[in-house]
Amino acid sequence: MEIGEPDFPTPEPVLAAAQRAIATGDIYYTSALGLPALREAIARHYEEHLGVAISPERVIVTAGSSAAILLVMALLVDRDHEILMSDPGYPCNRHFVRVFEGEPVGVPVGPNTQYQLSAALIERSWSERTRGALIASPSNPTGTQVPPDELRAIAACIARRGGRLIVDEIYLGLTYDGEPQTALSIAAAHADDMFVVSSFSKYFNMTGWRLGWVVAPERHVRDLEKLAQNLYISPPTVSQRAALACFAPETIALVEARRRAFRERRDFLVPALRELGFGIPVMPTGGFFVYADSSRFDSDSQAFCRDLLEAVGVAITPGLDFGRHRAESHVRLAYTIGMAKLEEGVERMRRFVRAR
Ligand SMILES: Cc1ncc(COP(=O)(O)O)c(C=O)c1O
Repeated sequence: MEIGEPDFPTPEPVLAAAQRAIATGDIYYTSALGLPALREAIARHYEEHLGVAISPERVIVTAGSSAAILLVMALLVDRDHEILMSDPGYPCNRHFVRVFEGEPVGVPVGPNTQYQLSAALIERSWSERTRGALIASPSNPTGTQVPPDELRAIAACIARRGGRLIVDEIYLGLTYDGEPQTALSIAAAHADDMFVVSSFSKYFNMTGWRLGWVVAPERHVRDLEKLAQNLYISPPTVSQRAALACFAPETIALVEARRRAFRERRDFLVPALRELGFGIPVMPTGGFFVYADSSRFDSDSQAFCRDLLEAVGVAITPGLDFGRHRAESHVRLAYTIGMAKLEEGVERMRRFVRAR
């Protein structure tokens, strides 16, 4: 229950499209911005499934959302520039800033803001060196989302400060209480100025294909193209041709069925963990993670994870992987495994915590 990678295989129509692409041998570099047909398909997906019209010109296909975040940081960050991000948060984010000699500023967050940055926290943490803020909604490791009103307040606050908002929506397709809503529609007044990062990795179960995208402000597309061209030339061609099949109705039907399976897993796991004595004050509403307070069992979450692994063979992740704020009292559990294994995992944890 440790790794953030779904157990579901790549959808069959995507595999078939990849096999067709390989058979043609037409596997050359593409435009650094990605295949035009894929950029158009992604833009159509926003219109048809997320109710927001965006120009395909704004869509830049990247080598995973990792490369998307890297490109955006390359564009925005120079030496000593600060980017605000939540602590806890996705661990690689701080390195994307540091690699350009910037300063990632981890802002401690807790259940009172759904473990997310808020406009007030951003306001308080802003300095003259701050260039912007990065939020992930739903988040890794907490699975929580920024409430729509708060997101609008965040976008307005950052615009007032002359900064940039980057929203990581890699888990957006995997939301369980209501339909996914992109920041591009929630904070529509600021949509033209924000960077929205997403990925084929999680919702479309394509982690190893290394494909994601960013919807960027139109005026930055040319610079991002130059960065992509120089840093890695183009996103992987076979993966791009395969990903064209993601938006076929049969693929969407399949990944939506999987979304329902994830929700069932969450609905089993969260109450089970609460019953064991883990603290989960905010219900995770997306992604496939539960961020839980483990201090009732051990004041050192890393020792707790190690002992749990050694005693009953259950792997979960200590808070330390996601930042410093209250890291020693938290763990992350991933429900990226089937129900039978999840039940077994909970049973083993029950044995372990009872014996303590
Ligand atoms: C919040 C978040 N952003 C970005 C990524 C990067 O994913 P990828 O590069 O596969 O799109 C991950 C991976 O786990 C993640 O959890």
